[in-house]
Amino acid sequence: MFGMGSPKKPSSCANAVVTGAGSGIGRAFALEIANRGGAVLCSDINLAAAEETAGQITASGGQARACQCDVSDLGQVEALAKAADEHLPGDVDLVINNAGVGIGGLPIGETAIEDWHWTLGINLWGVIHGCHVFAPRLRKLGRGGLVNVASTASFSAAPLMGPYNVTKAGALALTETLAAELAGSGVAVTALCPTLVKTNINANGRIVGDSSKLFDRLMNRFGMSAERVVNDALNALDRGDLYVMPQFDARLIWRAKRLIPRTYALGTGLINRFGASRLN
Ligand SMILES: NC(=O)c1ccc[n+]([C@@H]2O[C@H](COP(=O)([O-])OP(=O)(O)OC[C@H]3O[C@@H](n4cnc5c(N)ncnc54)[C@H](O)[C@@H]3O)[C@@H](O)[C@H]2O)c1
Repeated sequence: MFGMGSPKKPSSCANAVVTGAGSGIGRAFALEIANRGGAVLCSDINLAAAEETAGQITASGGQARACQCDVSDLGQVEALAKAADEHLPGDVDLVINNAGVGIGGLPIGETAIEDWHWTLGINLWGVIHGCHVFAPRLRKLGRGGLVNVASTASFSAAPLMGPYNVTKAGALALTETLAAELAGSGVAVTALCPTLVKTNINANGRIVGDSSKLFDRLMNRFGMSAERVVNDALNALDRGDLYVMPQFDARLIWRAKRLIPRTYALGTGLINRFGASRLN
């Protein structure tokens, strides 16, 4: 949906850098890019997890290397670009800014400021660092693609998810701006905006109390597989689509937010106040 100029060749068959490649959506990106013939530098704050992903790729005949990178640290993202130059067989022409953490369960004012900083550092600054370091390289190359893993939280404004919503809204705004800046350059830019995906995000994050239990129940029941989400995202990138919303509920929320904004805000508030306890 919403195409903004197609790249000349599939961007998903590439020399790729994936952040947060040790689990969930990041691992699925790394495996699928390799499956499409690309070489992948799998990076993660957890080196052992990144090595496991790279090992899965090489075990099935693909090309991959692993390295440690904390995306909240600009110096480490710059080092990641250097590692890509060293380890990939050509110029980096696909960047997946995926690393992220989950947080939720407390209202604004009760969420610790330290938790705000932690979330913004990874989910927002991590994506800013990835774009800051790799966008100029892609622009110079004049081809390839960049995917920022945003979320339906970029626009859903669901209660008790303040820090997460803010980071994902920022990631979406950044992606839209970058897409405009790179329009006509040969570089495709895509924002991935899923709802629930079956990953380790709840176990790895700071979602507390009833929200954590509810999240697990909903994710197990309705969550899409990371493989399907990633397949949709890479196909969308290859078409030159700016937005990819793999699930129906994401597309519904996107439209409701624009067509009936006040009703939408009232509805999410009431669901939070009266409905969430019943779903638990
Ligand atoms: N799972 C969902 O329902 C869902 C929905 C929408 C968007 N997302 C987004 O998808 C992305 C991937 O999350 P996931 O669901 O696969 O979770 P996950 O916890 O399974 O994987 C996240 C990976 O990121 C890594 N990571 C955490 N902090 C890091 C840092 N500072 N630097 C580098 N790597 C770091 C973790 O070690 C882990 O390997 C996140 O940006 C998340 O916000 C997830």
